[in-house]
Amino acid sequence: MNLIEISDLESILDMLEEKVLQHSQRPLSEAERIVIRGAWNGKDYKEMASESGYNTFYLQQKVAPPLWIMLSEIIGDEVKVRKLSLKNNLISFINKDNISTLENLNLENDPLFEQTKFYGALPKRKCFYGREKEIQYVSKRVKSSKEQCVALVGVGGIGKSLLAAKLIEELVSKHSKYYNLVIWKKVKCNLSVNDLVSELISIFDVDSTKKSFRFKTSDLLIRLKSHPCLIILDGLEALVQANDFKQKIEYGNFLTQLTEEEHQSCIILTSQLPIEEIIYTDTTLLYTNLQIKGLEENAALQIFHEKKIYGEECKKLIKTYRGNPSELESVAERINRYFGGNIQKFFDYKTTFIGQQLQAMLNQQFRQSGLLSDLQRQIMIYLADEVSDEFKLIPFSKIVENLRKRMTSDLSISELITAMEVLEQRSLIESTKKIGKDEVQYGLEPVVRKYILVDPFGFVHNKNYTEDTEHILNECA
Ligand SMILES: Nc1ncnc2c1ncn2[C@@H]1O[C@H](COP(=O)(O)OP(=O)(O)O)[C@@H](O)[C@H]1O
Ligand SMILES: [Mg+2]
Repeated sequence: MNLIEISDLESILDMLEEKVLQHSQRPLSEAERIVIRGAWNGKDYKEMASESGYNTFYLQQKVAPPLWIMLSEIIGDEVKVRKLSLKNNLISFINKDNISTLENLNLENDPLFEQTKFYGALPKRKCFYGREKEIQYVSKRVKSSKEQCVALVGVGGIGKSLLAAKLIEELVSKHSKYYNLVIWKKVKCNLSVNDLVSELISIFDVDSTKKSFRFKTSDLLIRLKSHPCLIILDGLEALVQANDFKQKIEYGNFLTQLTEEEHQSCIILTSQLPIEEIIYTDTTLLYTNLQIKGLEENAALQIFHEKKIYGEECKKLIKTYRGNPSELESVAERINRYFGGNIQKFFDYKTTFIGQQLQAMLNQQFRQSGLLSDLQRQIMIYLADEVSDEFKLIPFSKIVENLRKRMTSDLSISELITAMEVLEQRSLIESTKKIGKDEVQYGLEPVVRKYILVDPFGFVHNKNYTEDTEHILNECA
């Protein structure tokens, strides 16, 4: 079964990037990407250097040797990656990786699945827990062709990407009209709509190099009508750039066109930010928005059990980390590593860990200019100071009163309410559900509170990052 388009080095690089992040807690550097691309295309170091502007010695002696060691470690099975063997090593690694995903999905014998081609690498995990309601809700709507676009929105690490992959499994295996193609696209910052459409249309073997954007889009729509597809745009928040209104409109127009035309395909978006903050349309974008919250207790407990951690205290941790699976994984790993799996010992230290994915999200929120207004930042800092225990909530009137004391300028109540609504939509603050006429109360998830109080990178209190810093960080992202 041809599972992925091997020729697509860029999606292999995307997948590799995730493995590198897990292995070394950093992304691939630009120079490493150049060496991988060069080796893949059979180039020597001199050619790589002259095409990229790097120095031959640097690429050959400084970048390549540690890169081969790291890739060998990631691939495992005692494979020794070298420049000449890289292409074969990566192909067998990625195929093996994807095949095992599909074996997990138990779809090998499904005749419909045989006909579906996959483009791009789906995230995988040996076991998937919970989310039955979400899967049932979305797949029902998609199957009845009610929905052409679905957005899964929630904080970093909450499980959006994995849920999207699970949804695909569900749709591909059970849908009576099978899908011809599943396209998984991890969105990178600076991905223009034009490049996205060119890439999508090229998957259908259409040469679009000389065509205008409008032609390419209508070509794409024709294909989506004749070939039922599932297109996943994963991590849409990467598109958010300060003041880039043109891009917002372009994406808005593109998605509106895709959702207004009738076809059998479905677009699944995942995003940390509400879709309205990423795109702009004059009309209403027709899509189902699903706010993804933490796992239910039973599903979350499985994550601890998987790591051989048991006991009532697990439930306490699930509450503290609001059922966020990546946070629970990271705390469970630390309990095993530093406390020999003794959860009680861990509780004695009364500490909160911030997992990698949630931290990356908070970094983006506080770092990237234009994402948090001054007022929103002040609200969060105030709540972090005021919320003393992990479930404490503060009534709205008290927030108004205390912020007024803290702020030098006048506090407009309508601005405050709007600011709080945005923070809530981004799941950065929590609120009580409306019960009768009780006044609404707000609080902070302990991990978010810890991030604000510790301010690990200085992004919370120093909002004046220069454009240069932002540029460098974007390049590394
Ligand atoms: N339903 C689930 N069952 C088991 N583990 C999960 C589940 N959802 C998420 N995870 C774990 O949490 C991690 C983060 O999930 P991911 O989908 O990447 O989050 P997001 O896309 O929201 O940032 C995954 O790598 C996986 O290990
Ligand atoms: Mg994701």
